[in-house]
Amino acid sequence: MTIMVTGGAGFIGSNFILDWLSKNDEQVINIDKLTYAGNLQNLKSIESDSQYIFVKEDILNRQKITELIKDYNPRYIINFAAESHVDRSIHAPDQFIQTNIVGTHSLLESIRGFWSDMSSNEKNNFRFLHVSTDEVYGSLDLNDDAFIETNQYKPNSPYSASKAASDHLVRAYYKTYNLPVLTTNCSNNYGPFQFPEKLIPLVLHNALNGKDIPLYGDGMQIRDWLFVIDHCNAINAVLKEGKIGEIYNVGGLNEKTNIEIVNLLCEILDDMLPKSNLTSYKSQITYVKDRAGHDKRYAINTSKIERDLNWHPTETFETGIKKTVQWYLDNQSWVKNVTSGDYLTWVARNYS
Ligand code: NAD
Ligand code: TYD
Repeated sequence: MTIMVTGGAGFIGSNFILDWLSKNDEQVINIDKLTYAGNLQNLKSIESDSQYIFVKEDILNRQKITELIKDYNPRYIINFAAESHVDRSIHAPDQFIQTNIVGTHSLLESIRGFWSDMSSNEKNNFRFLHVSTDEVYGSLDLNDDAFIETNQYKPNSPYSASKAASDHLVRAYYKTYNLPVLTTNCSNNYGPFQFPEKLIPLVLHNALNGKDIPLYGDGMQIRDWLFVIDHCNAINAVLKEGKIGEIYNVGGLNEKTNIEIVNLLCEILDDMLPKSNLTSYKSQITYVKDRAGHDKRYAINTSKIERDLNWHPTETFETGIKKTVQWYLDNQSWVKNVTSGDYLTWVARNYS
């Protein structure tokens, strides 16, 4: 048996593949375009594993993707491939529209052709799981209830709007063609292999390099933080037991303001790697101009996945964040590798 993953060289996809191969004796085909966010270093430990196959390809290449699906005949296809960074979507939305909307549609078309030629037994066992985000639901006020699966979509950034559009396409392929789809909408992930453009790895990178730690606006925005392996477990649960056509919200039940996150990271670093002059990393925190259209708060109601699939987040934020900081400290060569020229150009453009 075989599963296929798109975008598996990115943060969540690579964690998913490593986790999958550590638990299953089943081949994984990883299709990734290797944008700035795709990094084969993440998968170095399984490079020579006979159960792992990497193909550098763009999900927009319909002909090639159709051939790959036909050749490998996967029982599951899990779509992680996306442009994923809100700030980049504000500066340059075009690629978000291409990959997240046109790319998801192209993938759905390839899968529809493949699925319609299957035997009825294969059809029953096949699943397409689309990995999406809580950001499609828009922004919450402090007293609002957490997002449930039936919340109206109200995306506010080009990123979240492109993900919302892709979710609608996935839903439409279920309603119109009966394609066996599943969608997960999860909160902010953290853990090993996250590109240092997102808050947690960026704070760690800047802190350790004596740079300013940028906090947007007043730093009071709230995110729910989910340890990446808990997210992988949720995807596994949805693949195995999820009801076709359904959406499952996934969250870590850890709502924190950005300033809380940044202060906590500085305190952990002060403890694990004190500065030689013994001042706190907190002295590097700098308030900068707010992000345009910045969503105030995201929060996830996980009742559905907990009740129907018996999934629960296992990592507390306290343990997960310490593991994550330790991983970044132990893997500084990985960080050096990803902080390439492209990254520096991006940082200059975003923070100038
Ligand atoms: P990432 O940016 O780290 O990785 C994306 C991967 O997709 C990269 O390996 C990249 O090379 C690949 N890719 C991009 N365009 C492609 C294309 N056209 N064809 C093939 N491959 C392509 O993203 P991530 O953080 O791992 O997120 C994975 C998925 O999870 C995304 O769909 C994202 O929207 C969603 N998500 C992420 C978070 C989070 O906190 N990181 C939260 C909620 C949802
Ligand atoms: P981010 O990691 O980009 O994820 P998302 O925008 O998808 O939630 O940002 C998390 C929060 O941290 C968000 O409210 C923006 C804020 N932020 C900063 O304050 N400074 C930064 O340098 C970054 C990258 C993010």
